[in-house]
Amino acid sequence: MNITIIGGAGHIGLPLGILFANKGINVTLYDKNYYAVKEINNSQLPFMEDKGKELLKKNKKRIFATTNKNSISKSDIIIVCIGTPVKNNKPDLLFFFNLFREIKTLLKPNQLLVIRSSIYPGTCKKIHQFLGKKFTNISYCPERVVQGKSISELPKLPQIISGISDEAIKKSQKLFNLICKKTIVTSILEAELIKLFSNAWRYINFSISNEFYMICENLGIKFDQLRKNMVEGYERNKNIPTAGFAAGPCLYKDTTQLTSYLKKSFSLGKVSTKINQRLPYFIYKQLSNKFKNNLKKKTIGILGITFKADIDDTRDSLAIELFNLLKRKKLKVIFSDDYASTLKNNLNKNKLISKSDIIIVGAPHKAYKKIRIPKNKYLIDLWGFLE
Ligand SMILES: NC(=O)c1ccc[n+]([C@@H]2O[C@H](COP(=O)([O-])OP(=O)(O)OC[C@H]3O[C@@H](n4cnc5c(N)ncnc54)[C@H](O)[C@@H]3O)[C@@H](O)[C@H]2O)c1
Repeated sequence: MNITIIGGAGHIGLPLGILFANKGINVTLYDKNYYAVKEINNSQLPFMEDKGKELLKKNKKRIFATTNKNSISKSDIIIVCIGTPVKNNKPDLLFFFNLFREIKTLLKPNQLLVIRSSIYPGTCKKIHQFLGKKFTNISYCPERVVQGKSISELPKLPQIISGISDEAIKKSQKLFNLICKKTIVTSILEAELIKLFSNAWRYINFSISNEFYMICENLGIKFDQLRKNMVEGYERNKNIPTAGFAAGPCLYKDTTQLTSYLKKSFSLGKVSTKINQRLPYFIYKQLSNKFKNNLKKKTIGILGITFKADIDDTRDSLAIELFNLLKRKKLKVIFSDDYASTLKNNLNKNKLISKSDIIIVGAPHKAYKKIRIPKNKYLIDLWGFLE
């Protein structure tokens, strides 16, 4: 058996490929990103992935990355892991469908085609229609790992399996049983909704704390302390998240896909998006109310610029959104991030602290936990993270 993963150099495709290779399967990672392909073939990871590097090195004989799509026609199994972006708050469906236009002539009905990206409901059936009736070996098996932890999480998570035919379901179960402990079979629409509901559920939860945070700030109360008191010894409150930027290429994007699919009937989706996306503007408004005309004379430092803690990924980061907003307002703003090391103008964290009058935690990286912020600096720490 050999597998081609399309989008194989990405955050989902690469760890999945490594796990299959580790089970003795020959894996081709087809991707348009030339630089990532080159790095993988040099046994380097193009991004942070826990335990990924060692396992890639160990299996280097079975993993080959390429920008040439011809391997698709020679594979028994093809897994699609490309992005499913949103554009102007709407799913960019063309991006995903264009791939199938590009590869249609390389696909054969006897191959198993597994769609793994988080898709707009109905997409899997549309792909079946586009490829033709003979292509019944199509399954939708959504990825549910947390970014950066695929290698350790995937084997522990049950895998949702759905398919156009029983044969597609059986073959997909067999495939995922190699790397997961359990599979759960559902209809295609259920699988599509399970994936989107999972991310929307998390996103809505974060929006509750973010709204509480804004309410508290407007009342002159610290939400992180209030939350600690709310949770202490009171089991029913224990799952309330901290406030913080709910960002990145998944939660906002998948809530937007669902909102777009359900139109007016998904009111929580719309409201949570509004709340979460508003945080950078709320922070800007807070600063302008506090410092008034003096704000232009202050240097604002953003500590952590990635979309969440302990990764190097800046896609759809609200910390970057905040940085750009402050720049547009013609304010002096600088940033530091221990992980996004390739970004231009990335300052050392100690330099950032000494240069800034105002410090905003943008991503609560573990490396900042014990950092000391001098008392004369104005600190905004949404997460209540710094010790
Ligand atoms: N990142 C996560 O934590 C996560 C978790 C669960 C599900 N997902 C979903 O998985 C999918 C992929 O996400 P990701 O974070 O891995 O994205 P990514 O951008 O890291 O990876 C996608 C890869 O696909 C490649 N690509 C794009 N179009 C291509 C084409 N036409 N041909 C060949 N290669 C192409 C890109 O170069 C990129 O390397 C998305 O639908 C996402 O919502 C992501």
